[in-house]
Amino acid sequence: MKLVTCGLPYANGKAHIGHLRTYIPADVYVRYLRMLGEDVIFVCGSDCHGTPIVVNAEKEGMTPKEFVEKYHEHFKNVLKAVGVDFDFYGKTAEEYHHEMTREIVRRMIDGGYIYPAEVELAYCTRCDRFLPDRYVEGICPYCGAMARGDECDQGCGKHLEPGEIKDPRCKICGNPASFRKQKHYFFKLTAFKEFLTQYLENLKATENALNYAKEWVKNLRDWCITRDLEWGVRFPGDERFVVYVWVDAPIGYISFTKKACENRCDWEAIWKRGEAEIIHFIGLDIVYHHCIFWPAMLKAANFSLPTAIVASGMVKVEGKTFSKSRGYVVWVEEDYLKQGFNPDYLRYYILSYTSHQKDLNFSWRIFKDKVNNELLATFGNFLYRVLHFSWKNFGEVEMEVDDEVIVKIKETREKIIDALNKWEFKMVCDAFMELAAFGNSYFQSEKPWDLIKQDKNAARKVISNSLQLAKALMIFAYPVMPESMKKVAKALELDLTSCSLDDAAKIDEKMKVRKPDLPFEKIDEKVIESLERMMENRFKEAEKKVETKEEEIGLEDFKKLDIRVGRVLKAEKVQKSKKLLKLEVDVGNEVRQIVAGIAENYEPEELVGKSVVVLVNIKPTRIMGLESRGMLLAADVDGKAVLLMPERDVEAGTKIK
Ligand code: 2FM
Ligand code: ZN
Repeated sequence: MKLVTCGLPYANGKAHIGHLRTYIPADVYVRYLRMLGEDVIFVCGSDCHGTPIVVNAEKEGMTPKEFVEKYHEHFKNVLKAVGVDFDFYGKTAEEYHHEMTREIVRRMIDGGYIYPAEVELAYCTRCDRFLPDRYVEGICPYCGAMARGDECDQGCGKHLEPGEIKDPRCKICGNPASFRKQKHYFFKLTAFKEFLTQYLENLKATENALNYAKEWVKNLRDWCITRDLEWGVRFPGDERFVVYVWVDAPIGYISFTKKACENRCDWEAIWKRGEAEIIHFIGLDIVYHHCIFWPAMLKAANFSLPTAIVASGMVKVEGKTFSKSRGYVVWVEEDYLKQGFNPDYLRYYILSYTSHQKDLNFSWRIFKDKVNNELLATFGNFLYRVLHFSWKNFGEVEMEVDDEVIVKIKETREKIIDALNKWEFKMVCDAFMELAAFGNSYFQSEKPWDLIKQDKNAARKVISNSLQLAKALMIFAYPVMPESMKKVAKALELDLTSCSLDDAAKIDEKMKVRKPDLPFEKIDEKVIESLERMMENRFKEAEKKVETKEEEIGLEDFKKLDIRVGRVLKAEKVQKSKKLLKLEVDVGNEVRQIVAGIAENYEPEELVGKSVVVLVNIKPTRIMGLESRGMLLAADVDGKAVLLMPERDVEAGTKIK
């Protein structure tokens, strides 16, 4: 028995292509295993806890429970739509998961692996609260990059322990945080150094994961596993706290297995008695949690250990490193599914673009080329031509297949299995595409459309070889493109859901052929152009936002600005200037001359007597020889200044805060 899991997505936003980089290969892997006769359980679910969820729920005016429900449903639907078919897709906010987490943490406590200790934690005196994880940001103590409370996400990628971050600031109010002592609970990770070193020696894993983990295991520190939060799983050793999200999230693998096993299998055989292989598919950014924390937790609780960790490389979008904030993102639902694209195209793209461990670049142009040139021109072309010709000319074919064809099919099967054992899904696709290319050149060189005119029996032999190849291709490609293959397999009345990989080389006595459907549709250049434009706009919009974000200032910076209500006493045009007005403005304690670029939008006389908003302590400057001491604040509406004015009459000099 095998258990396959995928890293749990946070129920904290929409599904994007980065998620699919893990889920689609895992789904394909499971489908192949089943076609090889393996008994497999495949689970995943929403990761519902952690501070980002609490913070974002607050922003959206929802309770964390409502908030995670919304995104849980979204993920469930999107994953289903792209054919990722879990046996169980749970969520960590459910009571069954809390129970399982408490059981495991209790075992860790009973084993003597958890101890209390005082730590200095970021504390905001303004908000009067401790600042766990994402409630705080500051500087990474290791590399100096801007970091979040628990992770150096923009720099070295290290996990940060509470209290480690330098120059912490409260994310809620922007105030510099201070440090205060609080008692928390620690997991003795350091006690597992020897165990982990040994474990990593024997672990089956992709190179990318193993390389990192073997370095990290050399420098372990005990791990603070509690948080001062309301939302999460109560820590059984001290109910004032919840456990850190990275304690309960992987336990989801166990609680979801238990659910998937109801009336079907014995979850304890898998997780307590080591009777199954446990294979985790994850992204490269969570290797530490899966290769260090997680096996140590399981060992401490006396549970079974994962047998394999499969880490996917990262994702780029149009050649740029994936980044939601910078707009380098493809949203699965709105950008892909809503365009009406066949989900199988995306599955094929993700699988076939590059090695599972390398970075995958998603580009709409490459997408079009892959669909049109590979799926349509090679793979689909062969299937459709063979099926169409067979249907038109035979309807039913008495099968007689050359050994060479069977050998070729068996070789392809071996290549696929070999690639699966290495989690090299591109090699899987290459194997069946090569078989399709072989089929195409065979069909082309044998010219059955000519042959049939002179020798129908000879043509039948060619068709029978070709049909065998077509059937094999449908079987081999089914895990990657399930819906398209099911559609085209109808022509052979072939039920792919019950086929094994061995069936590809089995020769039927006769094959009936019905009118085939086209397996794929061509992607139109215009559609791609409009998607490229959409992406360009998204990048530009995000750039604007990032720029404004980079200029973000704290309250103390804002306080440096002396902004006041001013009353315009005089206004006149500046000679020889179309844009400038010269104003005299009462700013409370004095009258200032201010030169403003608003002449195209305001007549001088309409301004006299009006209240405006003035930045008073801006450095004096000279404009067209005139001194200007102050700046009028205005909204920039497509380059046109619209002056800010108080909503009711306010005395000149009133401070703006
Ligand atoms: O990094 C993430 O998106 C986490 N939600 C993954 C959790 S995986 C597991 F451990 F549950
Ligand atoms: Zn860092």
